[in-house]
Order: sequence, then structure tokens, then C-alpha cells
Amino acid sequence: MVAMATEHVIDVRHWNDSLFSFRTTRDPGFRFDSGQFVMIGLETEGRPLMRAYSIASASWEEHLEFFSIKVPNGPLTSRLQHLQPGDPLIVTRKPTGTLVLTDLKPGKYLYLLGTGTGLAPFMSIIRDPDTYERFDRIVLAHGVRRVEDLAYADYLENQLPQHDYLGELVREKLIYYPTVTREPFRHQGRITDAIVDGTMGAATGLPPLNPATDRVMLCGSPAMLEDLGALLDGRGFHASPRTREPGDYVVERAFVEK
Ligand code: A2P
Repeated sequence: MVAMATEHVIDVRHWNDSLFSFRTTRDPGFRFDSGQFVMIGLETEGRPLMRAYSIASASWEEHLEFFSIKVPNGPLTSRLQHLQPGDPLIVTRKPTGTLVLTDLKPGKYLYLLGTGTGLAPFMSIIRDPDTYERFDRIVLAHGVRRVEDLAYADYLENQLPQHDYLGELVREKLIYYPTVTREPFRHQGRITDAIVDGTMGAATGLPPLNPATDRVMLCGSPAMLEDLGALLDGRGFHASPRTREPGDYVVERAFVEK
């Protein structure tokens, strides 16, 4: 039997008709590493209905935050999207996952490449001071279909750089690269293409991806992971093996079928 706790919703933000995020209370005894996920859910017909969600909040924050898609008729998200402050949420006590800094070898530049709700674990990682200690530059690329899917864009561009505690590190080291595929935007196209054709490098001012200096975390759809994994393998990167030996890159599927 997996240990579970009941937290309570603090607030909910609807980014558009298909994306929302929400914050809950956090048991002070609940610990996790930035980038990990937990199972969360609701009691339905007397049983818990649970799905994996990356934790988007920083491990030092007093609350938990989750970022979700609204899947039409999705058993859980069709209920979660109606959460109101004060509502209970079940959270398992065992965080897990592969997108953790300790699974990467030391490096100079860290690339966090996410599509859709694959941004969620990176929102935690970019708020972890340890990330800035380990790397000289952190590139956060978020690929989405529409401009309105760029959740957290204002936070990343305007609020986080002014943060009391992290602002200076963020201004010095974090490069946010939002890219949109199905509408005009200042960066257009898939992350894969932006890497291959040099568009991302031109925007970040960093050299082409190189396993000697760069470390990468991937979070997105199975197709995105496959394409980016192949791209990295082709450039000589080695994925962190299951044995938890540190590697050049780590991969996690964004959990969307909800
Ligand atoms: P596209 O619009 O060209 O499909 P989704 O909402 O389907 O998860 O997609 C989120 C973003 O990820 C979209 O911009 C989508 O681009 C992009 N994407 C989809 N498949 C891949 C892939 N194989 N590699 C890189 N980006 C992808």
C-alpha cells in the first residue's frame, strides 16, 4: 500500500481553455528533489483515481504546484480542472523520476527541453539554487503549438528575474527560449529544428550542442523524446542509464493521457 496524504488546494490558474495549474498545501515532512514527480488524485466512487504529475514548485517552497492539460473526457483532468480553493487532493508520499540534476555528469551548459506540459519539472529545476551552482548557463526551451500555450511566460520573463532570492542568478544564467509551431511568434518551429538549423544557438549565443560541455533534460511527448534522443545520440551524447549512473542527458515522458 502506497502512503498517501491529503493536501488542500490553495489556488487555481487557468492559462487557457486547455491548460491550468494549481497550488496545494504541502506536508512539511514531504521531501522531493527538483524535477521529480508524484502521483496525485481525487477520491472518486470511494477509490482514489491517481495519475503521475511532475512537481512544478521548487523543493524549498511551502506549497506544491502542478501544471496540467485538460483532456476532454479525461477521467482525472476533467475533474481536476474544477478544483476550487479548499478542495482536498490526494498526494502520494514517494516522489520519483529521472529528471534530477544528480543523474547528469558535471557540465557547463544545461539544456532543459520541454514541450507542452513537459515544462512542469523544469519550473522546479530552474528555481533550485543548486542548478545555478552546477551550470554556467541554463537554457529553458518550451515548445508549444499556440502562443497562448506558453504558460508561465510572463513569470519567466518578468517575475522570476526580479525574484528576491533567485533573481540575480536567473538574470545572469537563465535563457528562456519559447517557441511556437502553429502561429506567428518571435521564435517559430519545433525545438528539434531550432537546434539543427542553428536558430536556437543564434538566440542563446551558445555554441552547437556538444557532449563535452552540455547536459540535457528532455520532457515531452513520446515522439518528441524519440526525435530529440536520436538527435543527441547522433551528436555523441549518452543517456543516463537505468543504473542511475550519471549521463549526458536524461529523459522523462510528459504525462498527458489523463
Ligand atoms: P507541432 O505543432 O509541429 O506538432 P503537443 O501539444 O502535440 O504535445 O505539441 C507540443 C509542441 O511540441 C508543438 O509545438 C509540437 O509541434 C511539438 N512537437 C510535436 N512533436 C514533436 C517532435 N517529435 N519533436 C519536437 N517537437 C515536437
